[in-house]
This record gives sequence, structure tokens and C-alpha cells, in this order.
Amino acid sequence: MNDPAIDPPLAILLELTHRCPLRCAYCSNPLALTPRSQELSTAEWCAVLDQAADLGVLQIHFSGGEPMAREDLPALVSHASSVGLYSNLITSGVLLDDARLGALVDAGLSHVQLSFQGLDDVVADALSGFKGGAARKCEALARVQAAGLALTLNFVVTRQNAGQLEAMLQYAEAQGIARVEVANTQYYGWALQNRAALMPTETQLEQMGHLVDTWRERTKGRMVIDYVMPDYYGRRPKACMGGWARRFLNVMPDGTIVPCHAAQTLKHLEFPRFPASTLASAWFESPAFSAYRGTDWMPEPCRSCEAKERDWGGCRCQALALAGNAATLDPVCEFSPKHQEMVMLARRESQSGEVKLQLRHLSFAKTASPDADAAL
Ligand code: FES
Repeated sequence: MNDPAIDPPLAILLELTHRCPLRCAYCSNPLALTPRSQELSTAEWCAVLDQAADLGVLQIHFSGGEPMAREDLPALVSHASSVGLYSNLITSGVLLDDARLGALVDAGLSHVQLSFQGLDDVVADALSGFKGGAARKCEALARVQAAGLALTLNFVVTRQNAGQLEAMLQYAEAQGIARVEVANTQYYGWALQNRAALMPTETQLEQMGHLVDTWRERTKGRMVIDYVMPDYYGRRPKACMGGWARRFLNVMPDGTIVPCHAAQTLKHLEFPRFPASTLASAWFESPAFSAYRGTDWMPEPCRSCEAKERDWGGCRCQALALAGNAATLDPVCEFSPKHQEMVMLARRESQSGEVKLQLRHLSFAKTASPDADAAL
């Protein structure tokens, strides 16, 4: 039975597939990617959408991998619309042609979040492992605008492309984009593997901070710029996912239901899986979802901190990755005994010069079919 003391999730992110034509070195997908053969079927994803609507969820984010790698994406968007859900497509844009966009518009898609690694081919191709992606993304952006869909341009920042931020903002302004997200890479999944290669320097951060301030002032009323700082240089943690199991949940390609994209690194927790578990029972009854919900789990000094109901203790996955314990302080917090160590690590790694990027790959490919990477 649903616990009335727990609010239902506001939004659900569906990682429809881990297949993707890009191989971004900063991808937050898990290192062990799910093969196509283990993805939920169309009927199963529709059942997930039905349950989301019954739970009172408002928004569905169709994500991946590249969600457009699923041929049934228009059918899923159409089903989401039919049960009253607002649909957002999180995409690289490289598969978005007129016919496919038309089908999504007809299905009731409301919003597109289009990611860029920059406009310079050399850097963008190196970060994404995809040749000529920038031009394809610019074409996709024009198509989305022509279709009249709401659009957010997402510029993912790393040490390699931080110097291109101004060019990216100029491009967004020239295209009349109303919302831009400038997001420093968060270090999960493949990004964590590539951290030494991707970490921006403090000088780059300072320059980007000034640039964002200047541009916010200059484009006030025309363009909203959201800026996501890299955690490692912060002093207080972010409320990761708005707090563990407070507002959002993710469904992985194989139906595993998790509170955040990196949750499966918390090996001591057992996450429920659809269809054996419903979304409601995962959210309200699963011990994994209640493990770090609210403030009862918090150690000191989090428990006595005046920010505990704003940051909800930061990120559990980061606490595990950097401090070796998911139930301890997020080292981003200046009160963590690990904080200084983490800042020094970021400084050191940001100065490591040119480090070879390890592009994302289907690690199961050794045992699965050799065409797994070309499964699109
Ligand atoms: Fe899992 Fe932050 S990514 S709690």
C-alpha cells in the first residue's frame, strides 16, 4: 500500500536503451551496458508508462543511450501522451531526421533536450567518438525549432571544450534559443573512468563563471542559462536527484528501477526490477529506495546541519566512489574529512595535460554478438 507520508515521484527517466551511435567519454551510463536482447519490449515500456501515470507522475524523460535508437520511440511517446504524461526527449540529435521528428511531433512530444560537445569538429569528434556530429546536431536543432517544440540546448563541459563556451553561447543566441544548460561533467560511469582526462582547471572554471554571469546579464529576458558546476570544486554538495528517492526515479533498459543513474554501483542494495516489481512497490516499499530517503540515515554533522533538507546529504554514489561508504558525508561537503583530499585530486588531475580518452564501448561485446556495437 502507498505510504501517505511519502510523496510520489514527480518525474521518471526511462533509459530505454544503452545503444548509442556516440561513444562519449563522459557518458554517465554504467560501465556494464545492457545489450539490446535484455531491453524491455514496447508492451513492457507502455505498462511502465501506465504505472507512472497511475502513480501521479507528471513528466517522462525519454533517455538512453540514444532513445532514438529504439524504433518504437514514437509509439512510446504516443502512449505517454494518451495517459496524460508530458514527454521530454533527451537526445544527441544525430538520428533526428524530418520523418522521425514528424512522427514524434504527431505522437505528442512536448520538449527536446539536445546535447552538444561544442561546434569545433576536432574536439567534439574526439569527445563523442562520432565523426561530424556537430553539423548533424545543428541540423537537428533547426528541425526541432521549425517543428515548434520547446527546446533546451545542453552544452557538456570538459577540459577539452571549456574554451569554446563563448562560441557555444554565441551560437545559442544567434539561433534564438530560450534555454541553455551549461553542464560541467558529473563524474559517474564512463566520466569517472576518464576523470583525469576531462577535469577542467580552476582557471577554466573561473573564466566560465565570469562568462556565464556576463551572458546572463546580457541575454536577460531572452535566454535562460543554467550552469552546473563540477562537484569536485564545490564546498557544499548538490541535492543529487533532489534527494534520494524524493522526486525522481529511473528505469534502466532491462527494467531495473533505481533512484538515480549511478545507483547500481551501490552493490549492497538490491534494486527491484520491472515487471516483477511495480513502480509503486519499488517507490513505497523497496528497502533500497528507503535506504537514504529523508534525513534519518544521516551521520553527524549532516544530521545537525541547517542545510540537511536542502542538500539531503548530497550524492550517495559519490560518497561511495570517493569515500568508500555510501552512508557517509559526500566529500564535496567542506565538513567531510575527505573534502580537501578531493579538491587536491581535482587540481592534480586537471593538470595532467593530454590524457587519452577511453571512449564508451559495449563491454559485453566480448561475449555477445560481434555486431553489438552496430546494433542500431
Ligand atoms: Fe546516485 Fe547521486 S548519482 S545519489
